[in-house]
Amino acid sequence: MILIIDFGSQFNQLIARRVRECRVYCQIAPPTITADEVRALAPQGIILSGGPSSIYEKNSPKADAEIFKLGIPVLGICYGMQLMIHSLGGEVESAGKAEYGFAELGITAKNGLFKGLKAKSTQCWMSHGDSPKTLPPGFDIIGSTENTEIAAIANAAEKFYGFQFHPEVEHTPDGKKMIRNFLFDVCGCKRTWTMKSFARDQIEEIRETVGDKKVILGLSGGVDSSVTALLIHRAIGKNLTCIFVDNGLLRKDEAKQLKIRLKQHLDINIRFVSASARFLKALSKVASPERKRKIIGKVFMDVFEEEAKKIRDAEFLAQGTLYPDIIESMSAFGGPTSVIKSHHNVGGLPKNMKLKLIEPLKYLFKDEVRLLGEELGLDEDLVWRQPFPGPGLAIRVLGEVTRPRLSVLREADAVLLEEIRKSGYYRKLWQSFAVLLPIKSVGVMGDKRTYENILAIRAVTSRDAMTADWAKLPHSLLGIISNRIINEVKGVNRVVYDISSKPPATIEWE
Ligand code: XMP
Repeated sequence: MILIIDFGSQFNQLIARRVRECRVYCQIAPPTITADEVRALAPQGIILSGGPSSIYEKNSPKADAEIFKLGIPVLGICYGMQLMIHSLGGEVESAGKAEYGFAELGITAKNGLFKGLKAKSTQCWMSHGDSPKTLPPGFDIIGSTENTEIAAIANAAEKFYGFQFHPEVEHTPDGKKMIRNFLFDVCGCKRTWTMKSFARDQIEEIRETVGDKKVILGLSGGVDSSVTALLIHRAIGKNLTCIFVDNGLLRKDEAKQLKIRLKQHLDINIRFVSASARFLKALSKVASPERKRKIIGKVFMDVFEEEAKKIRDAEFLAQGTLYPDIIESMSAFGGPTSVIKSHHNVGGLPKNMKLKLIEPLKYLFKDEVRLLGEELGLDEDLVWRQPFPGPGLAIRVLGEVTRPRLSVLREADAVLLEEIRKSGYYRKLWQSFAVLLPIKSVGVMGDKRTYENILAIRAVTSRDAMTADWAKLPHSLLGIISNRIINEVKGVNRVVYDISSKPPATIEWE
């Protein structure tokens, strides 16, 4: 296992991804972790991440200096390297001029972390204000750029390495090789992190934790909750009960299809609760996006809780929380400070339910969850399902949510999805969906004036939904979608394509 200590770098998740791509398990810890806690985790190596602070700022995060005495190899990146230098007796200074962007790294060593690099220099990505001035005893410079003499350092005897640049980003093309060298040559890691081994360990752990007690899970039909269900079911069988709430805000035929598919592929206790009328009543005359979200969250909790109470002796509530959620809530630095949207997730823990939480996916990234789903034999359609928000179509019918408007959106959205699937784009996109706008426009159909709804199409690519780009769908495909929707869906006479990225827009319109 590799331990990544997070000093607030925007790239810390990327470091974790790089390590896991090498099939080595890693965990991210805050800087407050003590040397004793590190020793107890027994990592084979430590990576100190970058971060926005300067070592000499009063409240800048520091690591417990004792971690350098544990005999564990350390790789410091950017701020992490400066911290290592500072902790071991070297000096760091404000560079005078900050260095951002590409730089050519001249390499003086062809071994250690640079093993296998052929040329005398390689491109690297810099992003720093401070620079190292003097090195602690035992360290050598192994790489320099034009502006930064001390750009890569090594104390081979202690197995301490430092890079002023970022090996984890794509702009450092040899970075993956350097990280691999650290993991396998320096730390002696083995490629043991596979979804097969993860599933085996988790099933064992769930069995131990839960024993013969009962577990409840909110099933949304998305990949995270389906994989959680499958994993827990493998561990405890019939002692797992899933609750699926049909809120009337799902896509066309989705509740029906999910019911068939879930029953077919997951031989699990599932309680289906039809609560459309309740949700729609609560949403009547509400147009504000935040109020809609709050209402849906509240009604969901009420329905879920009522159903959960019927399951006697339940002691645990399972959730499909993923690693990025954990990292975000843990990070002491950065992170969103203002509520952009109050996200509501199926399966959130009702506060007054005295249930213990189990979150078996909490160390996985989304793509790993998909691999795990495949490993567990989950239906391909469920494994590759695009994310769908908890509040569903209510935040895609802009303004008041009514049955007729939901129905128009549902039909248009179904046509869109059919064409996206047919074109082979479904898996390439993070999400693709239709949005019904609260304005009308004039059109002409069969020589007659029409005055109907405008529908927007949203299709984005993304790695993690934190940022997203509008998808460059072929004009021909957009043309087919628009023609079909205007011809087939009563109530729509104009289709527009959303060409905004996130930020500054968000993926959903509300
Ligand atoms: P935004 O619109 O904030 O969305 O860019 C980012 C991602 O989150 C999804 N989303 C939600 N998911 N409950 C959810 O479970 C919610 O309330 C919610 N709101 C947005 C959105 O579909 C996108 O994938």
